[in-house]
Amino acid sequence: MTPERWNAVDAYFFSQLHAPDAVMEEVLAAATKGGLPDIHVSPAQGKLLHLLAKLQNARRILEVGTLAGYSSIWMARALPADGKLITLEIDSHHAQVAKENIARAGLGQVIDLRQGAAIKTLPTLLAEGPFDLVFIDADKPSNPDYFRWAIRLGRKGTLIVVDNVVRKGEVINGASEDASVQGVRQLVELIAGEPRVSATALQTVGVKGYDGIILAVVVAES
Ligand SMILES: C[S@@+](CC[C@H](N)C(=O)[O-])C[C@H]1O[C@@H](n2cnc3c(N)ncnc32)[C@H](O)[C@@H]1O
Repeated sequence: MTPERWNAVDAYFFSQLHAPDAVMEEVLAAATKGGLPDIHVSPAQGKLLHLLAKLQNARRILEVGTLAGYSSIWMARALPADGKLITLEIDSHHAQVAKENIARAGLGQVIDLRQGAAIKTLPTLLAEGPFDLVFIDADKPSNPDYFRWAIRLGRKGTLIVVDNVVRKGEVINGASEDASVQGVRQLVELIAGEPRVSATALQTVGVKGYDGIILAVVVAES
């Protein structure tokens, strides 16, 4: 099995299971034009987030890490007319490109982008929850802090998704000096000792290479 094979299989499934989407292509093109890094979720992962939001009957979604708004738009498209998605982004240029993309997708009334360090914004959201779905996809060393906030801002039944947890397999290396690897490992330890959530991790391959996500459901009131 090679990355070329994974990519071809990913492209095959996506082309068969999803209609061409000019808006999403424009969103990614605008991100490239704006010089943003190509670290959005893949199209298939975006659709997975969309389906998870549907399964949750989500009305309120929280995202940590907006970039160009690609994953935000996938999730927001699953919301009902009165739904809301709040997305947090530290970088002003990323936020500007994302705002343009959100407008391009016609979701300016649904997606609320809050610019600033997520750890400072999260405590201000207590009155705006509970969130039905939380997607954590920002600076990995802060994963444990974001996860604690996700529980606090959630409710029994909230789904928390954390992206990029495999770190090329280095997640199993306890001696790693990579702060992102240690951020994921601390998150896993936190979840292991947290009776209020039930979680699993899935490894993935595809156009974004070898990676994985953690899925956690809040099973008791926080
Ligand atoms: C992996 S990208 C997000 C990708 C996006 N979720 C998607 O799939 O389309 C991570 C984003 O988190 C932002 N970020 C990094 N540290 C942050 C922080 N402390 N607070 C808020 N956002 C942060 C980065 O600027 C970057 O835009």
